[in-house]
This record gives sequence, C-alpha cells and structure tokens, in this order.
Amino acid sequence: MMNGKVVVITGAGGGIGRAEALLFAREGAKVVVNDLGGARDGTGASGSAAEAVVAEIRAAGGEAVANHDSVASAAGAQAIVEAAVKHFGRVDTWINNAGILRDRTLLKLEESDWDAVIEVHLKGSFLCTQAAARQMIKQGEGGRIVNTTSVSGMLGNFGQINYAAAKAGIYGLTRTAGIELQKHRITVNALAPIAKTRMTEDLPMFQHTSSLTPEHVAPAALFLGSDLCGDRTGYVLAVAGARMYAYKVVETDGKFKDDNQAWTAQEIADHWEVLLRVRN
Ligand code: NAI
Repeated sequence: MMNGKVVVITGAGGGIGRAEALLFAREGAKVVVNDLGGARDGTGASGSAAEAVVAEIRAAGGEAVANHDSVASAAGAQAIVEAAVKHFGRVDTWINNAGILRDRTLLKLEESDWDAVIEVHLKGSFLCTQAAARQMIKQGEGGRIVNTTSVSGMLGNFGQINYAAAKAGIYGLTRTAGIELQKHRITVNALAPIAKTRMTEDLPMFQHTSSLTPEHVAPAALFLGSDLCGDRTGYVLAVAGARMYAYKVVETDGKFKDDNQAWTAQEIADHWEVLLRVRN
C-alpha cells in the first residue's frame, strides 16, 4: 500500500507511534522514526527508543532511519523534514503523534506544566504540520498529514486541563489546515486513539484489558495516511480496540426570531431545548 512512499512519524519510539511505524514499514514505506526519547512527562532525552524501532523495522526487511529532534521547536521540526529528505529524498505522509502527559486539575496545575504540554502537542503539531506542508508543496504531488487528538480534547476529561486544551487545539488546527491545504492536494485528518501504552497503563480502565492495543490503532493511521483516504480531509477518526468511530462537531439548526430582533437573555432561557436540538 505504501511502496515508494516516505512516512515521518513523530514520537514513534514506543506506544502507538511504534505500532504505526511497524505497519507503514510492512506496507513498503520508508519510515523516519522520530522520538526525543524522554520520560512520560517530557523530561530527559535519549536516542535508544527510536533506534530500537528502526532495528525492528530493518530486522523485518523494511527501511527506516531514526531521528531524535524535538517536535516542540521550529528548528526541530525543520530538522526532521531535512532528515527525511536527506535519507529518502521526500515526504509523502507525516504523522504527528509525539506527546507527553502532566495531569493536574485546573485548580492545581502549574504554569510550567501547562506550557510543556501545550508546547509538545499543540505547538509541535503546528510546527511539524507547517514544515511538512511546505516540503510537500515543494514536491508538488500532494501529501497526507495525520494529527493525534484525544477524547479528552473532543469531550473533556477530569484532571487533564492542559492536555485537553492542547488536544482540542489540534482539532482546530486539523480543520483549518485541511481547508487551507486542499488546493495543494494535502489531506489533514486526526486520529483519536485509546490504547494501553506507557501513557495510560496506570489508569484503572487499562488494568484488565488486552484488547486496547496500539496495533488496533495503527491501521486507522494507515488509512488516513495512504491513498485509501482519497480526498477526505478534516475528519477525526476514533479507535478503541475493535471499535472504529468518529467525532464530529455539530451545529444545531437553532431558531430565528420572527421579529428579526436580538434575542433577550430571558428568551434564550425559555427556548434552550429548541436552540440545542439536533435534527436527525
Ligand atoms: P507514548 O508515551 O508511548 O508515546 C509518545 C512518544 O512521544 C514517546 O515515545 C515520547 O518519547 C515521544 N515524545 C514526547 N515528546 C516529544 C518531542 N518533543 N519530540 C519528539 N518525540 C516526543 O504514548 P502513546 O499513548 O503512544 O501516545 C501517542 C499519541 O497518542 C500522543 O499524542 C497521545 O497524546 C495520543 N493519545 C493516546 C491515547 C492512549 O490511550 N494511549 C489516548 C488519546 C491520545
């Protein structure tokens, strides 16, 4: 499915990114395995995670190179593009998957924990999408960008104020980049995965499950990152084990006032159910 294509996957040294890298390589892609190699909270760095995934891909007969730049700086994002061009000549598909976690509730979160999470997820997705899109436009043959959002961003989640805001931002980024890059034949979609990884393994819902694996998620990334996706853009495809579904933002029909005057606050209260109603 990906013969001759070059795929960059950020944060691919473990978890979901690793499973995506192995699947894309199995489908014939040349893969840039990016990973800073830090701890779950984003501290530290090491080359070994990305190198280990590259070794796995090569052992299975595939092609891959490791890259250790951080997605969270413009220089890092550009260096990842340059690694792909240097080793494989181009970029066809880019998967923004790198992520960290610093969970606290709104009332307890430190400013530094807000900044760190926003920088890796939201700013990193922006910088990498921009760098990847510029390279794809230079090549002139379109491309595919896959971002990674989350149920936390789409619906909200207790204790993840920074992470949820970053992931909701990635939704807006995906929608807008999808619109802006359409004329360049670059599709931009997002995944909302649920899987047992080092990010989630200590949550109660993952204690007794063997069916929420990164390998369940990877085919959804392959779909959005391959020509099977067609011209679909701006979608959020969700996957949790064997369940495949989607998130959509809904605009209700609302209601026009007969007299064309501004709504009063009291009238909004009186018509609340009607204003919120979604026609089936
Ligand atoms: P993970 O912790 O195994 O993978 C994230 C990877 O990103 C790590 O290998 C880490 O070293 C790398 N990384 C962190 N900061 C980086 C940076 N600045 N530059 C480059 N690489 C960096 O976690 P997992 O679960 O595989 O997460 C992958 C993505 O999926 C994340 O964006 C996460 O937010 C998202 N996600 C995961 C869910 C789950 O249930 N596991 C749920 C919803 C979203």
